[in-house]
Amino acid sequence: MPSKRLYIHTIGCQMNVYDSEHMAMNLASLGYTPALSPEDADLVIVNTCSVRDKAEQKAFSILGRLEGLKRRRPGLIVGVAGCVAQQEGERILTRAPHVDIVIGTQAVQRLPAHVLKVEAERCRVVDLELTPGLESPHEPSPAAGGRGVSRFVTIMRGCDNFCSYCVVPHVRGREVSRPPESIVQEITALVAAGTREVTLLGQNVNSYGTKEGLCSFPELLARVSAVDGLLRIRFTTSHPKDLTRDLMESFARIQKLCPHIHLPVQSGSNRLLERMNRRYTREHYLDNVFKLRDTCPEIAITSDMIVGFPGETDADFVDTLDLVRNVEFDGLFAFMYSDRPHAPAARLSEKVPVHLKRERLHALLQLQESVTYKKNVALVGSVQEILAEGVSKKQTGGFAAERSAVQWTGRTPGNKIVNFHVGGGPDTFGTASAGTLVQVRIEKALAHSLWGAPENVDRPPEG
Ligand code: SAH
Ligand code: SF4
Ligand code: F3S
Repeated sequence: MPSKRLYIHTIGCQMNVYDSEHMAMNLASLGYTPALSPEDADLVIVNTCSVRDKAEQKAFSILGRLEGLKRRRPGLIVGVAGCVAQQEGERILTRAPHVDIVIGTQAVQRLPAHVLKVEAERCRVVDLELTPGLESPHEPSPAAGGRGVSRFVTIMRGCDNFCSYCVVPHVRGREVSRPPESIVQEITALVAAGTREVTLLGQNVNSYGTKEGLCSFPELLARVSAVDGLLRIRFTTSHPKDLTRDLMESFARIQKLCPHIHLPVQSGSNRLLERMNRRYTREHYLDNVFKLRDTCPEIAITSDMIVGFPGETDADFVDTLDLVRNVEFDGLFAFMYSDRPHAPAARLSEKVPVHLKRERLHALLQLQESVTYKKNVALVGSVQEILAEGVSKKQTGGFAAERSAVQWTGRTPGNKIVNFHVGGGPDTFGTASAGTLVQVRIEKALAHSLWGAPENVDRPPEG
């Protein structure tokens, strides 16, 4: 079978990364091997995100660039997957006439069949079926689909929360949880292939299993933790309205569970939280933060925030800044509100002008930068346990340039990125050591990462 080349361009969240890995794995059975660029590929898939207008525009801009390529090489097959595909469906075929395949968010398993059809008939295919229950939303074990010390594992799909600004429930469908046996089986296979850390993915992991009567999320964590050879467990995302005492206590109880929670708050104003349909108050959120820190003092808390939601006043924004000052998040992702198709907030009047959104975003990010830096500085001098992931991709400023040695990268249990150097060239701390836990003394704090030196590296034997 002649080798065919596949290039996947992934935009969006970790769930899209996971889906792209599955697509690559499924297409390998048709003889597709990875291409280094779209120019070298016979099949290009753009896996899209629709969470904000900008992400959607990015998808169409990438598709636009593929048009010329397809003109030069008419045999090229172009596919669009993910959330914009689900949202726009057939319209993509009109807007981008060079597209051959449009598959929605629940059609990943059926992609190989569609590719075979297009290869044979040179036709165009659209598959937008959203039918949870008709088929298992997951196939076990993508272990063959890639390697890595740290991997994502989707444990549930869809969302039932309908926050008023959000497109996700409309493009990902209703919430469906995957059976614990299948999750544990997949993680066991990943660990056998070298994975040491998994991040369990869901839009709201706190409600894992409730609809289907499976085990609770804390019980799932305990079962995953029993997988031999797995060193660390993380998860994302947790909805503040469903954060249980049991889950909080898991941080103290389950040794492999990293002390980090991503707990998106979205706004510090009760008025806006209500309009956003978040179904918790600022006070409830702050109480969660207090309890989390009480149960697990070293826990790192990160969050998402939206600025410029329709009707947001200066006073609402002051509440947001006040909450950020109060909580001192370890990290914060802040976004300018963007109208989304199907999301009810798009129909609200009192839109905030873009210059004000920008101003607020800037003020919020500046505040958070000072908090993040302060927290990073506080770690200087401490010894942190880092899971060595691999050689660091980029030089991190002047401090790195002082070192001629190889830079490694990894994360603290609290998810802070640490680059560390080991003298003596690339073999000193060879690839065999990726996936090991290293004690690193933190020497320097940067804005978004830390620098350190290993305390005691088990060096590979000489010769
Ligand atoms: N399920 C996760 C988040 C999914 S989307 C949760 O509930 O937290 C990731 C983030 O994008 C959200 O937390 C929110 O901050 C942001 N977001 C979602 N829709 C948005 C919109 N219309 N405009 C701006 N930001 C948005
Ligand atoms: Fe969107 Fe809300 Fe669901 Fe998160 S919980 S995916 S923000 S609707
Ligand atoms: Fe984007 Fe879809 Fe994820 S909208 S954030 S890729 S669920």
